[in-house]
Amino acid sequence: MRLLVTGGAGFIGANFILYWLKHHPDDEIVNFDKLTYAGNLENLSSVEKNPRYRFVQGDICVSKDVVAAMDGIDTVVHFAAESHVDRSILEAAPFITTNVTGTQVLLDASLKAKVKRFHHVSTDEVFGALPLNTPDKFNEATAYDPRSPYSASKAGSDHLVRAYFHTFGLPVTITNCSNNYGPFQFPEKLIPLAVTNLLEGRKVPVYGDGKYVRDWLYVDDHCRAIDAVLTRGRVGETYCVGGLTEDVDNLTIIKNILTIMGKDESQIEYVTDRPGHDRRYAVDWTKINKELGWKPENDFQTWLNLTVAWYRDHEDWWKRVKSGAYKEYYAKQYKSAL
Ligand code: NAD
Ligand code: TYD
Repeated sequence: MRLLVTGGAGFIGANFILYWLKHHPDDEIVNFDKLTYAGNLENLSSVEKNPRYRFVQGDICVSKDVVAAMDGIDTVVHFAAESHVDRSILEAAPFITTNVTGTQVLLDASLKAKVKRFHHVSTDEVFGALPLNTPDKFNEATAYDPRSPYSASKAGSDHLVRAYFHTFGLPVTITNCSNNYGPFQFPEKLIPLAVTNLLEGRKVPVYGDGKYVRDWLYVDDHCRAIDAVLTRGRVGETYCVGGLTEDVDNLTIIKNILTIMGKDESQIEYVTDRPGHDRRYAVDWTKINKELGWKPENDFQTWLNLTVAWYRDHEDWWKRVKSGAYKEYYAKQYKSAL
């Protein structure tokens, strides 16, 4: 395969490129990334000289650049997005531009290039929120009910991808996955923010009562799920991907991290809640399990221990990421805690 990976300098995209080059020794990858605040080529320093890997800086909203990058490509894996809910609350416009318009530009270029597969990476957040203490889970038949500018923009992109399948016959697949965690995640998201704050001797900001539930998926498990869908999935289909089979709330995760790091609960700081905060996400991943034999490789505790260890061992990486513009974002987002 010759893959165009969009957003490959971000968290999941970079993990995916490293995973794919290792497990598919005959394939070539072009990484197309704008390098926004979230893009970091340091994530890919171990493969930058690999002859099967090439980086192209570009914006998925700019048609001529996308068309040029698509030359010789047979498979598109689309990660590029504005991805953080809190930033979408501070400013929605870049989310609509990149996530909706950018996806449409990419779909048009993919049609023109006659790619054999367009895989779209989406989120469980398009399904809205579930109540606490119910057995309900999201699955492929759940109606869309996005509630933040981020999830609304991702829902728009999902609809466009399906529209290009039905209207133009573009061979698409979609995965809607839950919250990822693991190496190279930008420390604006809960787990890397908590771990790196604690390593810096700072407290962990917990929104509201902390009794919000997410389904947690280790990034490598996610990469294997995309691999299963790309190599064995059915065109036109959507697959939900999740990591946990039991609910775990944010406070429990933070306490777990405190224990791993030998800290106590005085390091928790309750801060103003996120507006419109979705109470609970849970994903039923029966379809991908039954059809493609995918399941998470390890349990949450094993992956969480490894993740904390990775940030402990990569202080240079996150210290660089947390300098500069990150400080301005942190001051704006967490002003109630400063
Ligand atoms: P990220 O924010 O870490 O990385 C996004 C990448 O996209 C960055 O490298 C950035 O430079 C690039 N990018 C942004 N705008 C661009 C543009 N206009 N043109 C080209 N490149 C652009 O995101 P992530 O956490 O790696 O998420 C990747 C994908 O997975 C996103 O589509 C996101 O919606 C989806 N997703 C993420 C999670 C999660 O927990 N992180 C969960 C479900 C789904
Ligand atoms: P986040 O990592 O931003 O992912 P998402 O909003 O896409 O689920 O947040 C995960 C959960 O953690 C969510 O319930 C919000 C909460 N949270 C905090 O309590 N404090 C924080 O500083 C952050 C970033 C998130």
